[in-house]
Amino acid sequence: MSNHKLNVVILAAGKGTRMHSDLPKVLHEVAGRPILSHVIACAEQLDPDRTVTVYGFGGEKVREAIARPDIEWVRQAEQLGTGHAVQQAMPLLDTDSITLVLLGDVPLLKAQTCRSLLKHAEKHLALLTVEKQDPTGYGRILRSYDGRVQAIVEQKDASDEQRQIREVNTGIMAMPTARLTQWLSRLRNENNQAEYYLTDIIAMAVEDGVGVVSEQTRDEWEVAGINSKRDLADVERQFQKAEAARLLQAGVTLRDPDRLDVRGHLTTGRDVTIDVGCIFEGTVDIGDDVNVGAYCIIRNAALGNGTIVAPYSHIDGASVGDRNRIGPYARLRPGTELSAEAHIGNFVEIKNSQVGIGSKINHLSYVGDSTVGRDVNIGAGTITCNYDGVNKHRTIIGDRAFIGSDTQLVAPVTVEAGATIGAGSTITRNAPPDALTLSRGKQITIAGWKRPEKKKG
Ligand code: UD1
Ligand code: CA
Repeated sequence: MSNHKLNVVILAAGKGTRMHSDLPKVLHEVAGRPILSHVIACAEQLDPDRTVTVYGFGGEKVREAIARPDIEWVRQAEQLGTGHAVQQAMPLLDTDSITLVLLGDVPLLKAQTCRSLLKHAEKHLALLTVEKQDPTGYGRILRSYDGRVQAIVEQKDASDEQRQIREVNTGIMAMPTARLTQWLSRLRNENNQAEYYLTDIIAMAVEDGVGVVSEQTRDEWEVAGINSKRDLADVERQFQKAEAARLLQAGVTLRDPDRLDVRGHLTTGRDVTIDVGCIFEGTVDIGDDVNVGAYCIIRNAALGNGTIVAPYSHIDGASVGDRNRIGPYARLRPGTELSAEAHIGNFVEIKNSQVGIGSKINHLSYVGDSTVGRDVNIGAGTITCNYDGVNKHRTIIGDRAFIGSDTQLVAPVTVEAGATIGAGSTITRNAPPDALTLSRGKQITIAGWKRPEKKKG
């Protein structure tokens, strides 16, 4: 873009009083990630020479939560204003660079918008503004009669007349670092908040004859700052709307685009249908012809072609092959691998297990630390007892085995191929192939037995 170095300063030291929370504002989450992470991701796309984040309220919590080696941190011990915050970062910046200031509470900003701002920042002060329906709370842009930016006045310092102005400061600006240093040294805190306002440098630039170039974004949401839980909820919905729009554009059928939450990376094949209320977290990869029923939660998982996930199923850390049928009310936990055409029914929990082609576990079972072959049928209420109180052990079930209902398989144990286990058995030793194994008390009938009667008196 230019020969100048690029330095990004992200302001994230504020407490966020209006959030009414002990958690630093920038650590509240949008789409499952801290607000600040979104801003850092935007900065990263600009390929800066350095990124300095100013932190303060909440102390090391913010640093620790973000934990990225490519970010430099500087502490603003007292929150004396946005200008004071930038001052703290100056010793770390390259004198021959351009500085781009981003606000840590504006998560939807696009890198492309920053790039078009940076084009003007080699010689000028480049300022991003936006026209707002309701400008309340934002700094207003004051322009001269011929339309040139003259200054910014904060809401709390603005006259009634100035408050009518709907063009506001987004807080995002870029300028030569050397100029910034000079201007910051001249800041005073003689205003209604007794703060050192970064916004005061606009008037200084005008005074020094450095042109102020403004860019206006048409997208209000892109530059929305989060100051309250109301703002947080609105920005979250906006993010999700954009995510839904992306999926619709890619050909996904969303039963209701307003009832979908993606908190991570969701990739989809052709002819995918997603019913209402689903949440996708982490990295989820969905193949072709997949149907996800209502109210499913799917995290860090892959779903192969033609798989059907019925409502209210939870899938976490599982790899699901082609044409499987899952749920309703199924739970696949980390380490689950379904090969293909398996049926996993209601109230079935599977953990750290492989299930072969065509096997059925249809009702009320727990299968953990197990290897299940192909065409196995596991009856209702079967439990692998994988934990002896200290260690976990494996259960091996061979191809075509049939496990009768209400069986406990006490691991380590093997049920060999083609074996049948009688219902209600507790299996503690290996069951041989192609034979019936069962362990249960014999059924008896006591003739002439009478039910007890209620005593009188
Ligand atoms: C600021 C701007 C305002 C603009 C608005 C856009 C100033 C004086 N005002 O107002 O013109 O319209 O953003 O969203 O710049 N911060 C620090 N240290 C401080 C104070 C703030 O790091 O001492 C950080 C906050 O954590 C936050 C950002 O700077 O991420 C903005 O601060 P905030 O108090 O939210 O400023 P606004 O009142 O929104
Ligand atoms: Ca703000």
